[in-house]
This record gives sequence, C-alpha cells and structure tokens, in this order.
Amino acid sequence: MASSMPSTVMISSRMDSICRPCLAANSGLRYCRPRAAAATAQFSSTNKLKLEPLLIGGVISRQQPRASFKAETYEANQGETAPPSSAEPAAPMNRLKIGIYFVTWWSLNVVFNIYNKKVLNAYPFPWLTSTLSLLAGSTLMFLSWATGLVAPPDTDVEFWKSLFPVALAHTIGHVAATVSMSKVAVSFTHIIKSSEPAFSVVIQRLFLGEHFSLPVYLSLIPIVGGCGLAALTELNFNMTGFVGAMVSNIAFVFRNIFSKKGMKAGKAVGGLNYYACLSIMSLVLLTPFALVVEPPQQWISGWNVAVQNVGPQLFWWVMAQSVFYHLYNQVSYMSLDEISPLTFSIGNTMKRVSVIVSSIIIFRTPIQPINAVGAAIAVLGTFFYSQAKQ
Ligand code: 3PG
Repeated sequence: MASSMPSTVMISSRMDSICRPCLAANSGLRYCRPRAAAATAQFSSTNKLKLEPLLIGGVISRQQPRASFKAETYEANQGETAPPSSAEPAAPMNRLKIGIYFVTWWSLNVVFNIYNKKVLNAYPFPWLTSTLSLLAGSTLMFLSWATGLVAPPDTDVEFWKSLFPVALAHTIGHVAATVSMSKVAVSFTHIIKSSEPAFSVVIQRLFLGEHFSLPVYLSLIPIVGGCGLAALTELNFNMTGFVGAMVSNIAFVFRNIFSKKGMKAGKAVGGLNYYACLSIMSLVLLTPFALVVEPPQQWISGWNVAVQNVGPQLFWWVMAQSVFYHLYNQVSYMSLDEISPLTFSIGNTMKRVSVIVSSIIIFRTPIQPINAVGAAIAVLGTFFYSQAKQ
C-alpha cells in the first residue's frame, strides 16, 4: 500500500530531481510526482534528503543514491523553468540522451502507425488487431519476467483494483483510436487526437472543478479551431473515424484522471512493470468484446481475402504493428522518467507531427492546402497549450 511506504526517498541526480509529467496535466502523460515544496539540499550517501515519495504512473518509485552531489527539487508544474543544479550531468550529454529517447519514441510510433494502417487497409478488423497489440506486449513482458530480464512486480489486490479504471479507459482509448484509423487516414486520426488537451481542460473543469489560467483557455481556440477546419476540409471524412478519435481523446483524459486518483492505492510498481500490468489487464478486458464484435469466423475469412490481396507478408505486418505498439509505449514511459512535463508534452506533439507528415508521404494521402492549414493551427495550439500549462 502506498500509504504504508516510507516517506523518505533519496534522490541522486538531476534526472531524478526534475518533476515528472503529471497525469492529469497533459495528454498521454502517465508519470506524476506529488507536489513537493521546492527544496535544495547538499547530500551524500550519508546525508539523505527527506521528500515525498516519487509517484510513477500511480506507483511509488524509491530510488537509490548514486553519488554525493547537490540536488534540487521543484514544484511539479515548474517543468523546464526549474533552476539548474550546479552539479547536474553535462548538458550536452543530457540533451543527447533525451534526444535519443525522443527519436526512438517517435520512430517506433511512426513504424507502429504505418504497419497498423497497412494491416487495417488489408484486414479491417480493428478490435482484433487492438487485442493483438496488447497480447504482444503482455507476452513480451511475461517472457521478460520468466527469463529474469525484468524482475516481476510485487502487486497486491489494491494495486489491481486501482489499475482497473485506468485499464478500462486505456482499452477504450486504444480500440477507439484503432477503429478510427480503420476508417480514415492516419493523419486525420492524429490531427483529431492532437485536440486531447482541449478535452483534458473541459473534463477537468466540469468533473473535477479545476481552474486553469487564461492562456490555457486561449490556447484551446487554435486547437479546436484548427481541428474543426481540418475535419471540415478532410477529403475522406468518415463519421466513425472522427468519432473514434474523439472517443479516444475522452478515454485517455479519463485514463489520466483515474491514474492520478489511483496513485495512493496498492503496492509500489515501477514504470516498466506498471505499463506491463496495464497491458495485461487491458487484454483481459478487451478480448471478450473483440470476440463478440468481430467473431473468429470473420477473422479467418477476412484473413484469407487479405492474404490473397497483399500476400503472406500480412502476418509480418500484424507482428510489426503489435510489437511496435508495445515498444513505443514502453519507450515513452522510459522517457517520462527522464524529462519534465513541458519536454514530454512538446515531444508528444512532435510525435504527432512526425506521424502526420510521414503517413501523408507514405500513404500519399490527398490533402487540400486548407486542410493542412487546419492541422498546422491545431498542432501549434497544442504547443501553446504546453507552454501555458507550465
Ligand atoms: C492507440 O492505438 O492506443 C493509439 O494509437 C494511441 O495513440 P497515442 O499513443 O499517440 O495517443
């Protein structure tokens, strides 16, 4: 139980001292650090800094000290504005490391989206392919645990109970995005998904009574306006595709809210295993619905038709979309442990830009100039939102 955890942790580098993205603060953010008062302390292996535990994706991470140095902690919302530590790792190396995380995250995400769309074009079974993505991730993690590559998590009933609403929202968001991509261009789904911050603000305002600054509200104007323009001028508009992306936005906002609420329950599980548990529970939740919505007889007949059309490589496309789905999520969790909310939020927006641009090029998606202008305005709006939220 989180409540039974010691309230003393040792932080050991600037990486550990910068705040993690708050779940409810930005789209797709899953790590959160409780609001600790700004603190600066000189400490070593014999001089430990007392802080609130570090929450990661609804769990507590207790980190080990590495060396003697000056550590600084900041308010969770300060992001990149926090003053630098005098003994932080060399900035160029730091930037290089974050750059590698980002390039890996975006690349894996682009590959996932490309193969996901290739599969869905040939084999339009979004419920099945969503399930296979979760199955691949769960299998990889079970193998990692079985071979000792990753230590299995020590969980309790409270942990799984608190994970349930998170997994439910994750499942809905995932399948809704996949259904969307089965009906419209990948670029269109991601343009609509770039409006997630607007949903986040509205839902938190309505359901949690939270207030935001004027710049945050103003940033929603280009997000909503840009998405609206892109939707109205989309050449291959499809209502199911549009609604799927919108439902995914709503579900992911609730996933973030539930994660934040569930943080105080259950045993401590690190980020990598937390995402593994999320995948496993989502797989259990989604499988019966996938079987009902797309019965296995249809899978087989659909598969035969698809293989006739695109050849036996369809199998490898399915493998690729499934494995890359897990890998990009895994890397995004890893990068979350290294960067501030602002950096993550901007990284997530850049990820959408990478996916939108690369999918338009690869699939030769026809777009009108006014459609591209709408998308650009929406993406710029998410940048403004990221800045205003800090
Ligand atoms: C999914 O299938 O879960 C979505 O494509 C996820 O999209 P996102 O991680 O870019 O929000």
